[in-house]
Amino acid sequence: MKKMVILTGAGMSAESGISTFRDSGGLWEQHRVEDVASIEGYERNPKLVLDFYNERRRQLPTVKPCRGHELVAALEQHFDVTVITQNVDDLHERAGSTNVVHLHGELMKATSTLNPNDPRQIVTLDADHMDIHLGDKAADGSQLRPFIVWFGEAVPEIERAAYIASEADIFVVIGTSLNVYPAAGLIQYVPSHAPIYLIDPKEVPWNSLHRYHHIQKGASEGMEELLKMIVLKAWRNCSR
Ligand code: OAD
Repeated sequence: MKKMVILTGAGMSAESGISTFRDSGGLWEQHRVEDVASIEGYERNPKLVLDFYNERRRQLPTVKPCRGHELVAALEQHFDVTVITQNVDDLHERAGSTNVVHLHGELMKATSTLNPNDPRQIVTLDADHMDIHLGDKAADGSQLRPFIVWFGEAVPEIERAAYIASEADIFVVIGTSLNVYPAAGLIQYVPSHAPIYLIDPKEVPWNSLHRYHHIQKGASEGMEELLKMIVLKAWRNCSR
């Protein structure tokens, strides 16, 4: 089976009703990123940060995967698919994707302030325990915090993601402005023989990248079109 690697960002979940960050009306227009999504912000005002992520987490049960998430999951019938996502929601998993790498953490997990990447400290939250409060403790006794990679922190999954990108036969990018590194740099690892498809309704200024097919549509319509293109290509190859 060919390896398909799909890099997703906030635009992937936009049609499910979760705001993107940098579009007009996006989250970073309403909150200062340095206050709510940086390690310095957390050290300055942990309650503000906990409340911000509690609010994001409470939204999760109210939203559903969109058709785009479902089509990404359906690709597993034909390809060896890995989803590398910058999203902290669980919509890929809920749509049925079985191989998802979360570069920026997961909203439904919490960890220790002292040792955030120690697997023994990471716990999964559930519908009865959605919020993290000041005073809640991790197993090591430190304040429990969201399992989110903030600005100013290392991205522990990036090496694994770079390796996965380097093995891709087909690479698909859906709904990310590619503003945030190191995630945006993953494109550089894609082998030169692998086609790169970009699904985004906006023009994306990818100056450094010449070899990509832009499907200028939203995630769901764009995935429908991608599937048609791939099926057509396979059919042409068979009929040669
Ligand atoms: P952005 O908000 O920067 O970019 C969202 C992208 O999705 C834009 O290119 C939009 O044009 C596109 N988009 C909007 N609606 C769409 C739709 N219906 N279908 C497909 N695409 C659509 O979000 P990210 O690139 O994901 O990190 O942001 C990367 C990181 O920056 C996030 O993980 C987050 C943020 O700060 C942290 O908080 C650590």
